[in-house]
Amino acid sequence: MIYLDNHATTRCDPRVVEAMVPWLSEHYGNPHSGHSLGIESHQAMENAVAQIARLLNAPVDSVVMTSGATESNNLAIRGMCMHPRQKRRHIITVSTEHPAVLDVFADLERNGFRVTHVPVQKTGSPSAGIVNLQRLEDAIDDDTALVSVMWANNEIGAIAPMKEIAGLCHERGALLHSDATQAVGRISVDLLDVDIDLLSATAHKLYGPKGTGLLIVGNSNRRVRLNPQIVGGGQQRGIRSGTMNPAGIIGMATAMQLCSDGMRDHNQRVAQLRDQIWNTLNANIDGLILNGPDFDQERRLPGNLNLALPATEGQAWMSAVPEIAFSSGSACSAAHSAPSHVLTALGIDESRARRSARFGVGRFNHSEDVHAACEMLIQGHSRLLALAN
Ligand SMILES: Cc1ncc(COP(=O)(O)O)c(C=O)c1O
Repeated sequence: MIYLDNHATTRCDPRVVEAMVPWLSEHYGNPHSGHSLGIESHQAMENAVAQIARLLNAPVDSVVMTSGATESNNLAIRGMCMHPRQKRRHIITVSTEHPAVLDVFADLERNGFRVTHVPVQKTGSPSAGIVNLQRLEDAIDDDTALVSVMWANNEIGAIAPMKEIAGLCHERGALLHSDATQAVGRISVDLLDVDIDLLSATAHKLYGPKGTGLLIVGNSNRRVRLNPQIVGGGQQRGIRSGTMNPAGIIGMATAMQLCSDGMRDHNQRVAQLRDQIWNTLNANIDGLILNGPDFDQERRLPGNLNLALPATEGQAWMSAVPEIAFSSGSACSAAHSAPSHVLTALGIDESRARRSARFGVGRFNHSEDVHAACEMLIQGHSRLLALAN
């Protein structure tokens, strides 16, 4: 199997597994217990949380550990809107967000909040898929409580200009949440540089374990009050109850450190491999179309490729080449057979959306396997064309 689906999840790095294992088997104390086994778990976990805070340039007491980005997004958005002191009733998001944001907004809309979905720039533009800043600015009013904009898109790799967005929100007294699931570990996320009030991330997209994520709540400029969504033992200052997961948290900190240490080289390498896939497929399949922004590193994640075939459905291509893991849409919404809402939000018609495929190049890919994958993809595509004719 050649794995080219690193936006769906990443392989847990063996160095991360190595760092985690002792905290599962040997040092298994409940980090909230008062005896020595508990205290050592607690200490190791606190060190890991401090490391995570340092890597994001966030205050250490702003870090809330969760089970993943879905929970973090729910806690951030619902938690803020449902806080008893929250008087504003308007919330804004973007049409290309992940369902873990869009579905929370839909639920809040059913509960009386006014919701605005801001459009993105349309296909054909070098910035296709990036939020339309003018439309965002126009949408924010004095009743806007929260704006939620993903830092990087999981299907087309579009990177949002978060600094400008933060300025627009704070000018009107609205808070900013960012689902940074695809950005943390891949591009610089520095919360001293970019003033974000709530930020979600997950370990399994950055070569860490599944089932561990984080939410940054507030920063030195602003305090953010959340209504807890999971109540119980009062852990994590009462914001998120439940026994914490030392192994997962240590794994996430280790994974984030590895990403940070090697980011520049990694990004250069995966961008080259992504370009290799695009150039090889483009030279061998007539009529290929790129979906999303151009390959400028400010606008698109370096390992992301999303393309449309001229006449064949992405799903059929996947079935024709089972040796390669890639995606015909977002893996997170694979349960739905509808064309990707991200692609249609760019103005791409349903037929082209169904002919689309997403590749995500990652740390464990090499030029040789990318070369082999391209050969198989081209042959698979030719077989499908021959069958159709
Ligand atoms: C942008 C984005 N947000 C949220 C999620 C959900 O993350 P998790 O699997 O940690 O709940 C994903 C994962 O697929 C994602 O890509």
